[in-house]
Order: sequence, then C-alpha cells, then structure tokens
Amino acid sequence: MTPSDFIVFGAPKIERDEIDEVVRCLESGWIGTGPRVARFEKEFGLYKGQRFAAAVSSCTAAMHLSVLAAGIGAGDEVITTPMTFCATVNAIVHAGATPVLADIDPLTMNIDPARVEARITSKTKAILPVHFAGRAADMDALEGIAARYELKLIEDCAHAIETEYHGRKAGTFGDFGCFSFYATKNVTTGEGGMVLATSEEDLARIKMLALHGMSKDAWKRFSDEGYKHYFVVETGFKYNMMDLQAALGIHQLQRVESNWLRREEIWRQYNRTFAGLPLTLPAAPEPNTRHAYHLYTILIDAERAGISRDEFLDEMTANDVGVGVHYLSVPEHPVYQEKFGWQPESRRTEIRS
Ligand SMILES: Cc1ncc(COP(=O)(O)O)c(C=O)c1O
Repeated sequence: MTPSDFIVFGAPKIERDEIDEVVRCLESGWIGTGPRVARFEKEFGLYKGQRFAAAVSSCTAAMHLSVLAAGIGAGDEVITTPMTFCATVNAIVHAGATPVLADIDPLTMNIDPARVEARITSKTKAILPVHFAGRAADMDALEGIAARYELKLIEDCAHAIETEYHGRKAGTFGDFGCFSFYATKNVTTGEGGMVLATSEEDLARIKMLALHGMSKDAWKRFSDEGYKHYFVVETGFKYNMMDLQAALGIHQLQRVESNWLRREEIWRQYNRTFAGLPLTLPAAPEPNTRHAYHLYTILIDAERAGISRDEFLDEMTANDVGVGVHYLSVPEHPVYQEKFGWQPESRRTEIRS
C-alpha cells in the first residue's frame, strides 16, 4: 500500500484560493490576530445572519468562554448530552460548573428534551445541546424548556455549520452558538472556532476573555494606528484565532454551500448503496430542517452483521478506508467515571429516579 491509497477520514478539501491567501498573509508581516480574522468574523456572521461573531482558537474554547460569559461557575449545573466529543463536557468542567447528562433519543442521536426537563434542579443554569452529526436538535422543545426554567441555552454547533431548524440557523437559537473549524469539519482553519452571541456586551466579554482579559481591541496594539496602551481587566485566556487560520477560513466559507451539495449527494449514495446491508443507517432528516451532513454514522449490531464494531473498523482500515467512532458515550471514559461516578448503564438509574 502506498500512503496515497488510504482514504483519510475527514481529509480537508484545501484549494488554491486558501493556499494563495495563506501565502499573502505570510508575506504581509501580520500573521497573528488581525484584519483577516476580522473579515472571517464578519463573513461568518453574515452567513449565519448573526452579526455578533468572535473567532477563537477552537470550539472547546468557544464553549468554555460561553459558559463563563453566561455567568455560570462553581455550584452551577449544565445539562448536556452523553453522545458527544469530550470537549462539550470538558468546557463545562473548565468553567468550574458541574455537567449533568440527559440521554439521547436513539433515533436522532440528539438530546431528548423530556430527559432534559427531568434532570433540572435548583442548580441548573444552562442546557448545552449538540446538533449531532449535523442534524438539528429539537430546538422548539429545548427553547421552550430554557424559557420556562429561565436557563441559558448554549449550542454546540461543531457539526452544524449549515444546519437549519424550522427556517432558523443553528447557533442563533441560544444565548451562544459555538462552532468548530477543526481539520475534519465542514469548514476548516486547521484548528479554530467561533462564538455567535446575541448582544454586543456578550461579544465584547467573549473577545476580552479570549485575549488574556485585555481591554477592547488590544490586538491592534502593534498596528499601523500606533502603539496603544491596553489594560488587563480580567484574568482571561489565550484563545484568539490567528490571521493565518482565518486566511483558510475565508475561502473555505465561500465554498460551504457547493460543498454541502456534494455532501448531500454522497450521503444519498451511501443510503442507496448500504440499504440492503444488516446495518442501522442514519435516520432521514426531519421535515423543515437542514442537515449539515457532517458525519455519516452507522450502527453495527454484531449478531445481525456477523461482525463486531471494532472488527468492522479493522476491516475498513485494512481496505484503506479511514473510519472513526462517533462516539464512545461520555460515561465510557474513565475520567468521568472517576469524577462523577457515571457509567454507561446510568440511564436506567436515571429513568427510575
Ligand atoms: C460535538 C463536538 N463538540 C466540540 C468539539 C470540539 O471542537 P474543537 O476541536 O474545535 O475544540 C468537537 C470536535 O470534534 C465535536 O465533535
């Protein structure tokens, strides 16, 4: 096998425009946070119809800052899904709050609003749903619960750049919408993230926290406007995006819709080709929603398929097709078992209690 025979899972589609933009950025003398980041924020905000956009270093950073900016910390609980990447739960933990899991609807793989409601306590401050694989979570129900119990709503839109639900775009329902531009995502900057906020104040706080807690527009301190003093007003983080990353993002974003059409075509081709196999395929998208087609997830029942999940992964790899597991559920990881006593079987306890 030569390396080029192997189909890399989620390999990014990088084209000439972004390569040229990266070169121009390198030659400009300004590779850190600057004008290209500002342009990417503006254009991403326009794409989502939400003008308060802050580019950051990852979706994990975006969620950490959003939980903090929502005023959530020690002693508070945030309800989220067990069917997600560890980053969703870690962001809650990093903010000092306690994650609480509400199980999914096995058909949609998205958090089940009835289970969310059942897990609300006097300490609950927010709901953090994931639009799993790019399929919109049940936002009518989640918005309703958030409004009834006066909870913040923070959306993990790592898979959901193109996702829409009942005519509205993912990331614009909640107080904060958090996006990922990691290498495998539908728009990539290598590593990167974005927060959509609903107010200028929230946006300013996110931007400040993302750059050490330095006062407004501190990134301009070395610009051609001349050196400006800045003041550190909070102990923030180093979560800013670089112009080098935004150089990729600007052009990736311009192709997001044409890429989406291709994703849809491939998704349908998979559906047709796999229809007769002993597998559970992704549920059809709900009416009046738009799926981002980020991950095509199949379920393998070892008895029906005559092969276990992990044997299947090995077979696919042996046949030069890159694969991934999305995901081991959060309670399957040792750290959460130790920290919170979670177990994959906990759902049964939760139902009974
Ligand atoms: C559901 C989900 N949330 C959050 C993240 C974290 O994104 P990032 O790598 O940009 O921090 C990912 C990344 O794969 C993800 O799949």
